[in-house]
Amino acid sequence: MATEKNISLDQIVALCKRRGFIYPGSEIYGGLAGTWDYGPLGVALKNNLKNLWWRRFVTDRENMYGIDAAILMNEKVWQASGHLANFSDPLPPRSDLKDSKPQGRTFNLMFQTSIGATDEAMVAYLRPETAQGMFANFKNVVDSFHPRLPFGLAQIGKAFRNEIAPRDFIFRAREFEQMEIEYFVKPANWNEQFEFWRRQMLAWLAQIGLTSDKVHELEVPESDRAHYSKRTIDFEFDFPFGRKELCGLAYRTDFDLRNHSQLSTVDLSYYDDETKEKIMPHVIEPTFGLDRLVLAVLANAYTEDELGGEKRMVLKLAPALAPMKTAVFPLLKNKPKLVAKALEIYRFLKPQATSHKLQAIAWDDNGNIGKRYRRQDEIGTPWCITIDFQTLEDDTVTLRARDTGEQTRVEINELSSRLADYLGRDSVI
Ligand code: GAP
Repeated sequence: MATEKNISLDQIVALCKRRGFIYPGSEIYGGLAGTWDYGPLGVALKNNLKNLWWRRFVTDRENMYGIDAAILMNEKVWQASGHLANFSDPLPPRSDLKDSKPQGRTFNLMFQTSIGATDEAMVAYLRPETAQGMFANFKNVVDSFHPRLPFGLAQIGKAFRNEIAPRDFIFRAREFEQMEIEYFVKPANWNEQFEFWRRQMLAWLAQIGLTSDKVHELEVPESDRAHYSKRTIDFEFDFPFGRKELCGLAYRTDFDLRNHSQLSTVDLSYYDDETKEKIMPHVIEPTFGLDRLVLAVLANAYTEDELGGEKRMVLKLAPALAPMKTAVFPLLKNKPKLVAKALEIYRFLKPQATSHKLQAIAWDDNGNIGKRYRRQDEIGTPWCITIDFQTLEDDTVTLRARDTGEQTRVEINELSSRLADYLGRDSVI
C-alpha cells in the first residue's frame, strides 16, 4: 500500500472544515482572526484527548487534585505572577508607515476587560494561562485534603492571549485550551521530579500516537525562558509548517507561591509533618496546549494511500481518539428491509456504547457504499458495519477495517464483543 506523508497545513484545514472538525470563528461575518470553532467531530476528538489526559494524570494517580478555577481573576493575581510586567511581545513595525522600524515598545498579551458598571469599573484580565488558578487555590486544597508533598493540582481550561500574529490554524490562536499540572515538591527534589515528569510527558505523547521519533526535546536557553522559569524543556513536533513547540515542562521554583504570599499577605507556605518545618514548595509544571495536540494528532494521522487501486484519504487515528468508533450502513438506501435491519443493529449497539468503550456510533445511508467508506476513512472511523442481503438470510454482517480495507463476516450477536476486543487491544488507549 503506497502511502503519501507530505501533507500541507491547507489539506488539514480543508478536511477539518469539510468534515466538521474545526471551522473558522465567526465565519458568517468574515471571521475573527485567531479564533476557531470546534464542530461535532472536533469536539469529540478534543474530549477524547481531555478524558485520556484527565484519567492518566488525575484519576489514575494518588496525589493529584483536579480543579476548575474561574477564568476571571483578581487583577493582583497577574501582578504577583509577573504577567502584568513581563508578559509582552515587542510591537512589530507599522505596516502603514514606509520603512517603519521596530517601535521599541512592548505590548502586553493579556486581554483586558472591565468588571461592573462603567463609572466604578474594575480592571480584569482573561487568564493567559490556567496555572494561576492552581496557585491561587493551593492553600484551599491543602486545607481540605492535607496532601503530603509531592502532590499536584491539575486543570483543563481556556486561556487567552492577544497574539500579535495568530497563525498556522489552531497552532497559535488568541483563545485556546490548556491542560496543566502544577506539581509541588520539596525544593531539594526538583531535579528528580523534573526528570520524572519529562518521562511521563513523553509516555503520554506516545500513548496518543506521537511517538518519541516524532517528538523532539529542546532545552530552552535562559534568554528564551519565561520570567518564572529556572529550567524549561519544550517538546517539539514536526508540524506541516516546521518543527514547533507542542508542549512544555518548566521548573517554576517557588516563584508563584512566594509572590502570591507576599502580595496577598496570606501565608502559602506548607507545614512539613516529617521535619516539623514550614517550607515554600517548589513547582514542576508540565503544560499541554490542547489545540496543538489536536493539530499534531490530525497531522500525524492524515494519510493518502491507495486501496483497491483507488487513491483515498484516510485519518489513521488511534481508535481511542477517533470521534466515531464505528459506522453502520444498509448496503442500499432504497430497500426497506435492509434499512430496517441496519437500524435495528445500530440501535442495538448504541446503548452498549459506554460498557464496551464503543462510544460514538455513526449511521450513514447517504450515497453509495464506496462513498460512505471514503467518508468514514476521512474522519478516522476504525470500523464500518454493512448490512447486506446475506444479513437477512444468516444474521451476519460485513465488518470492514479502516487501515487495510479488509472485510470479514461477523455474526450480529458477536459484533459488540468483537469491537470491544479490537478497542481493548488498542495500545494507544
Ligand atoms: N503555564 C505555562 C504556560 O502557559 P506556555 O509555554 O506559555 O506556558 C503552554 O504555554 C502551552 O500552551 C504551549 O506549550 C502551547 O501548547 C499552548 N499555547 C501557548 N500559546 C498558544 C497559542 N497562542 N495558541 C495555541 N496554543 C498555545
